[in-house]
Amino acid sequence: MKTYYLFILSIFLLLISCKQESKTIKPGEIWADNNGIHINAHGGGILFNEGSYYWFGEHKVEGKKGNKAMVGVHCYSSKNLVDWKDEGIALEVIKDNPQHDITEGCVLERPKVIYNVQTKKFVMWFHLELKNRGYDAARAGVAISDKVTGPFEFVKSFRPNAGHWPKNVKEIHKQPVGTDVLDKYCGGLGCLPAHPDSVNILGRDFENGQMARDQNLFVDDDGKAYHIYSSEENSTLHISQLTDDYLSESGNFTRVFSERYMEAPAVFKHKSKYFLIASDCTGWDPNAARLAWAPSIFGPWEELGNPCVGDEANLTFRSQSTFVTPVQGKKDAFIYLGDRWKPENAIDGRYICLPFQFNKSGIPYLKWMDEWSLDIFE
Ligand code: GAL
Repeated sequence: MKTYYLFILSIFLLLISCKQESKTIKPGEIWADNNGIHINAHGGGILFNEGSYYWFGEHKVEGKKGNKAMVGVHCYSSKNLVDWKDEGIALEVIKDNPQHDITEGCVLERPKVIYNVQTKKFVMWFHLELKNRGYDAARAGVAISDKVTGPFEFVKSFRPNAGHWPKNVKEIHKQPVGTDVLDKYCGGLGCLPAHPDSVNILGRDFENGQMARDQNLFVDDDGKAYHIYSSEENSTLHISQLTDDYLSESGNFTRVFSERYMEAPAVFKHKSKYFLIASDCTGWDPNAARLAWAPSIFGPWEELGNPCVGDEANLTFRSQSTFVTPVQGKKDAFIYLGDRWKPENAIDGRYICLPFQFNKSGIPYLKWMDEWSLDIFE
């Protein structure tokens, strides 16, 4: 009889463990957290720290209002990248000071967190638009915390690299250009017509700092960190090394993909090569992703085209990139995380999470899967 019960128990345990093995991700579906609530971490990024993954993203509220920051940055933790535990709000917007840079109703997008081994601080960078100024401010924001899940404390917001020319500056950038010429190209957010290099937005912003909208962070194997942001009225990406404490720009930066209007950049490194996935610039509407690679973070970068294959590849499966996370302990394992935005009801935005696969030449690509598990990786 005892053996019988033991047999039943072991079958039961086996069933449970099989179930755990095959836990799946269903891109585009509601992704419930440990409380059964759809994860609220849009434009997010993932940090691996001491055996756990932490997902930080924009907390959205219902309706169009959700496109503004009414709450702050939400954090979730996970051991397996599938089950996420709600860790609460890591950075709160300020409710009692309308003058504060991150006052309730500002635009606070694409937060990313990295850990500084030297200072033992968690550092968050985000795209900040000051309240009631549309997308004109184009600033970078920084917050800091001793604990991974926060509370993060706001440090500052600013336009990067004031008073510094990029490594690959052209002489023409240093010539003063009339504001009448510049005004034609500076209508705030949106897809501005491609401008000739002679329309010198870089030079215009030299003194007060460069515009910084869609953004990401990347920490290299040597511990150096980089801020990658859409600048010059979204026309050009900047890749900018941070100071050793990760709190400021170092002034060492480069312009890449000039006049390609790249947004939503995410960098990852595989076998000593740097890869960057980004989108075109069409607001909340999806477009075809772009992949590029380089032998060094500062370039030269070479575009490789759209990494998506199959149905809806031309729309990145109706998503826009936000992050690429390596999977710990797995070989050649990188996961694409993108947003399927719902600007009419921001809180209902969905996540498109898909594994990168590599072709024979070592170039990553993305294929749609209705459902997949981490067993796909070796
Ligand atoms: C997108 C950008 C989003 C958000 C949106 C606003 O292009 O990637 O982060 O800023 O525009 O329209």
